[in-house]
Amino acid sequence: MTEKDLQFFKAWFSDFTKSYYSSDTEDQKNITLKVEHTHNVCKNIIEIAQGSSFSENQIRVAEAIALFHDMGRFPQYTRYKTFRDAVSVNHGLLGSKILIQENVLLPLPSYEQQLIIQAVKFHNAFAIPPVLNDETILFLRLIRDADKVDIFRVFIEYYESPKQDRASATALGVPDTPEYSAVMLSCILKKQVASYSNIKTENDFKLMKLSWLYDMHFKESVKLMRKNNYIDRIIDKLPQTDEIKSAMATLKDYLSDRLNTTDS
Ligand SMILES: [Fe+2]
Repeated sequence: MTEKDLQFFKAWFSDFTKSYYSSDTEDQKNITLKVEHTHNVCKNIIEIAQGSSFSENQIRVAEAIALFHDMGRFPQYTRYKTFRDAVSVNHGLLGSKILIQENVLLPLPSYEQQLIIQAVKFHNAFAIPPVLNDETILFLRLIRDADKVDIFRVFIEYYESPKQDRASATALGVPDTPEYSAVMLSCILKKQVASYSNIKTENDFKLMKLSWLYDMHFKESVKLMRKNNYIDRIIDKLPQTDEIKSAMATLKDYLSDRLNTTDS
């Protein structure tokens, strides 16, 4: 992939997103949220890839994956007014279909086209399908990390902004009460990623986001989270009970261990 290819993709993506702009303030807020998210995921992916010894060409491919990873979000929101895949469509799959239908990747060698299509298609899968080849898995890990880092920013900004300024589709629509579920805490203690299906309150949602830290592949991504202070900023928004404090200590120990190891 050349720099010219990347510039073409950026221009294409900009036209694509503009076609979903809306005169409705609420709808436009949700669309803008995803445009900004995309730009931030592009920045994150470059930083993670550079810090993890990717080649110049690989970094361009990574940036293209970041640019296109959430393109399914735009038709998803316009059609269903939600970002919840469970009640609408799988936005990763939808994005990959648009890339194919619109022939966006035509200037690229076919193996790069396939790499980008597969990475977009599976970026939001609960786990990475083991059938994919090693290079696809590597880029999939990269986009999933870069995406997660920015999802933390989106949620923190959501919680830290006045209610009237919040982009409605960010929330899951669960009650914002002081309760949290034992199963979410137990995932944190067992160093496992929690699933959406167990979320009953906003606190569960925050715990689920924190459990994603167990699924960060690149050390550089954990560094990026720490640099932005995302972990403490989410922890601060949880009830400070003894059991939450102890689960958070487990999580933080895990993160310190990761940052102290010499692998990537
Ligand atoms: Fe996504």
